Amino acid sequence: MQRRKFVAALTAAELAAAPAAKLAKDGGTPVRATPLRPGYWGSQFYDEKERAELQDVLDAQSPFRWYGAKPPQKVLQFEKEFAARMQAQFALGVTSGTAALQCAVAALEIGPGDEVILPAWTWHSCFNAIILAGALPVCAEIDDTFNIDPDGIEPLITPQTKAIMAVHLQGNPCHLDRVLAIAKKHKLRVIEDCAQSVGASYNGRPVGSQGDIGIYSLQLNKSITAGEGGAVVTNDPLLFERASRFHDLGGYRAPHSQQTGEARLPWFFGANFRMSEFTGGVLLAQIRKLDKIVNAVRANAKQVYDGIRDLPGMRFRQLPDPAGELGAGVFFDLQTKARADNFLAAMKAENVAASKPGGSVILPILPHIMAKAVHPDWPSYQSARGKAIKYGPESCPKTIDILGRYGGVLMDPKYTRRDVDDIIAAIRKVFPQT
Ligand SMILES: Cc1ncc(COP(=O)(O)O)c(C=O)c1O
Repeated sequence: MQRRKFVAALTAAELAAAPAAKLAKDGGTPVRATPLRPGYWGSQFYDEKERAELQDVLDAQSPFRWYGAKPPQKVLQFEKEFAARMQAQFALGVTSGTAALQCAVAALEIGPGDEVILPAWTWHSCFNAIILAGALPVCAEIDDTFNIDPDGIEPLITPQTKAIMAVHLQGNPCHLDRVLAIAKKHKLRVIEDCAQSVGASYNGRPVGSQGDIGIYSLQLNKSITAGEGGAVVTNDPLLFERASRFHDLGGYRAPHSQQTGEARLPWFFGANFRMSEFTGGVLLAQIRKLDKIVNAVRANAKQVYDGIRDLPGMRFRQLPDPAGELGAGVFFDLQTKARADNFLAAMKAENVAASKPGGSVILPILPHIMAKAVHPDWPSYQSARGKAIKYGPESCPKTIDILGRYGGVLMDPKYTRRDVDDIIAAIRKVFPQT
């Protein structure tokens, strides 16, 4: 009997009836002889396409996006194809997801006196972009999606609240419809942070183009990559103009102003977050592979979900749109932190890496955030709420609890059938015994 069929044939009832296989951590034979760990998605797909794009830039001697020895095209073409893939009218290529967030915050004219609600569990960049704009970050608890809990948003809204960061973490869209409805009711703007969900969709549409403005990261750990890189999308020409200006010292170049028809704004202050043609070239090759990468990882994740869902007590992380999530990880509730820790240790001994939810941080418990450690006159903390706000573990108990008791496996588009079967076999062996 094929190994896959054998694993599938072990029903939950048979598992329960059969004597439990001795766990590798207790001296039993591990499921795998060698460790299984996920790789970096996009860079595993590098081939002659990326090489040809890079060669083009070298041959043209035009590494700068706006001009050069020959008219540069890579970043512009990447922006065009990225916008089409994300079903957005405009896309802007930038140097990182962090830079993209700063552009989005600038585009929405978020500044001193404003408050922005973000999830307590997300990446540093979200908090930093708000602080760097002089605004006040207000952290909301997460729910069992690991994303912002819509039920926790409204109590945090004040007259100073300007925007909500709807972050879609680890390939899993947040309850976006509910966030959008709250934003509409209170006249707030929505930044969709899709850094970890490039290629995911929600209600049949790619994440990023349903809020006011969306951002993506194209750094090594993301779906597609040039090592570093980021993008901003929007359907609003004014937001696009502000984002484009902010990424380029405040100016608005013809290739972008032609897209919005005209320049509506005067020069203002901005950074330099311009993407190089080398990055644009690699990302052009990568965006054309996004569907292939996403389909592969989704197929692997689906097999794992299907292979373990019958286990008694199995409760998966909540997926607001199961068809749209990336399948970057299959996570389940282990009910207590102690059991989650046991499960992870036992899986490691089976040579199948399992992990706690990762790739983000519980922001309010970071020492520099608790200490509000910026310049003493920094505007973020000058308002009455800014002075009063207290970060710390007591501000996000639910977030700490959820993240402590979940565990799971990260997926990879290049996992073979055998790898996926090993993951299923290891979970089926370890989950009932921990
Ligand atoms: C949720 C989230 N937002 C923003 C970023 C920033 O992206 P970058 O690393 O490209 O600056 C990241 C990076 O991991 C992220 O996870």
